[in-house]
Formats: sequence, C-alpha cells, structure tokens
Amino acid sequence: DKVLGIEGTAWNLSAAVFGDGLISLYSKPYQPVSGGIHPREAAQHHASEMREVIARVLTAPEEIEAVAFSQGPGLGPCLRTVATAARALALALDVPLVGVNHCVAHVEIGRWATGCVDPITLYTSGANTQVFGYLNGRYRIFGETLDIGLGNGLDKFARSKNLPHPGGPKIEALARGGNYIDLPYTVKGMDLAFSGLISAAQESTAPIEDVCHSLQETAFAMCVEVTERALAQAGKDEVLLVGGVAANTRLREMLRTMCEERGARLFVPEPQFCGDNGAMIAYTGKVMFEAGATLPVEASRANSHYRADEVEVVWRHDDET
Ligand code: ATP
Ligand code: FE2
Repeated sequence: DKVLGIEGTAWNLSAAVFGDGLISLYSKPYQPVSGGIHPREAAQHHASEMREVIARVLTAPEEIEAVAFSQGPGLGPCLRTVATAARALALALDVPLVGVNHCVAHVEIGRWATGCVDPITLYTSGANTQVFGYLNGRYRIFGETLDIGLGNGLDKFARSKNLPHPGGPKIEALARGGNYIDLPYTVKGMDLAFSGLISAAQESTAPIEDVCHSLQETAFAMCVEVTERALAQAGKDEVLLVGGVAANTRLREMLRTMCEERGARLFVPEPQFCGDNGAMIAYTGKVMFEAGATLPVEASRANSHYRADEVEVVWRHDDET
C-alpha cells in the first residue's frame, strides 16, 4: 500500500509517500523574517506552498491508497491549512483519510528508522518536551513540560543574549568552553518546568559560556531523570530520542551514560527523521491505514491539543504485562 502524508504542525511544511519503504519526501520550511514563528504567517506559507510540495512527492497519484495528515498537536492555523488540503486531496483521489497524532508519528518513524522495538521516547523539540512509551494499547505519557518546550526555552534565552536563531546550536557551541554554575532544577513528580531555569539563565551575570554550559547541564539532567524513571516504571530497556533538540551532542551523551548504567540502549534517528517531516506522517498513516484506522471526513477537524495518549494504538500488538 502507498500512503501520502502531509506534515505542517509548525514551521515545516513537508510531504512524503511511503510504500514498502520511503518513496519520496520533500520539505519547504517557513523561514520567519524576524524572531519566532507567527502562526498565521506560517499557515499562509503552508497554503501557498502546498501545491508544489504535494506535486513534488506525488508522482503516481493513481497508486495512492490513503491520504494521511498531522491532525495535532500544533499551531491552529497551520493545522487547519493542512487538514483542508488533505481532505481535498482524499476527495480528489477518492481514497480514505488518516488522521495522525504528531507525537505518535515521531515515535513510529523513530522505530522504523532505528530498529528499536519498544522504547521509552524522549521527544524534545521547540514546542514539545515529553517522555512517553507504549503500555497496554496506548502511548502513555509518563512526564512532560508544565510550561514551555525546551527548544523554545533555549531560543528565548538566545534571543535575550542576542545570539542567532535557532538558539540550540549556538548554546551548544558556547557551552563547550563553560564551567558549571548553579541554576534552578525543576522536576515535579514526573513533570518538568523550564521557564524558571530560562529566566534565571537570562538574568545571570556569569560569563555567557558558563551560563550556556549550566543551562544545558541542568535542562538535560532534568530530561534524563524523567526518562530514567519512566524506563524503570515501565520496565523497558530502550530509549528513543527525537525532536529538534536531539541534535545536541551533550544531551545524547548524558542519555547514553544513563542507558549504559541501566543496561539499556539509546537510539537516535538520522536528522531527517528527528525533526518534523512528512515521512513520519506517511509512515504512521500507512501502518494505521493497514490496521483499518481511517477517519470519516466529519471527524477530520484539526486538534491543536491532540495528546498522544488519546490515540488508540490499533497497529501495535505487543503483549505487555
Ligand atoms: P515541534 O512542532 O515538533 O515542536 P518545532 O518546529 O517546534 O517542532 P523542531 O524543529 O523539532 O521544533 O526543533 C527546533 C528546536 O530545536 C529549536 O528550538 C532549536 O533551538 C532546537 N535545536 C536545534 N539544534 C539544537 C542543538 N544542537 N541543541 C539544542 N537544541 C537544538
Ligand atoms: Fe515535532
């Protein structure tokens, strides 16, 4: 079966076709002129680039058996643009629609790309920071940020220090030359909070290298702690790291150390499958389609607060006790 997938929850409009493997993938990211993402501008970008992005991947329309789209979570205007395009396309091709949860899709493409089977996933990007794993037919969320996504926090800190956007890579580079200073560490139960840490980092008068170093050490230690406890609670031995912040070498190193100490293994997909991409929607759409999880048009509304644990995972049959 061949499934077309469209991703556009935030800045990256991306489409792909998945058959036995990845057949085609094309992305056209929205580049804000200044500062962060303006949701309406991003949606406008998606609307004007949609035709080209779809045309690039859809070389044999008659072979497409379903149209999958990212239904949420994400920016409302962007999601609505993608859902509208997906509906029109499904109608034109006379094939069913598949509504894909964006967070679940990160996990599924990660499993496909790395070969891990049943991981605890640390998904940390601009807007999201979440630790989740499969338990009894659902992706259960073990812990998540109570305020902002770590990536957006790093970007906010960077902006306030006049560092270029996105902040993550620049902070990583500066952090290499820094020493540790104390910054607030906030894990509440299994959840994380970053805004206090970001404010403290912004207000710090220590050398920028020290602040960047300690910001990373603190934020990543929080993520690693929650991931480790989720591993223990769920009794799993694989960790999957996805999202834009997964590019960070120090985060990978800290997670790998934790995994080694626990006898677990760390998996990180190659960059094109780590950030937001059409392949994750096409692939997840395909496994969902094959399990019969299609969507009637009247249920195809975008859902900007769509949570991973709302999805009935009918395509996995791991038997867990
Ligand atoms: P989502 O909708 O999944 O939240 P997004 O567009 O908000 O997606 P991504 O594209 O997945 O986010 O990731 C972008 C974020 O990743 C930015 O905040 C950026 O600063 C961060 N990032 C990129 N490279 C690094 C790095 N080397 N270290 C830390 N953070 C990084
Ligand atoms: Fe994402």
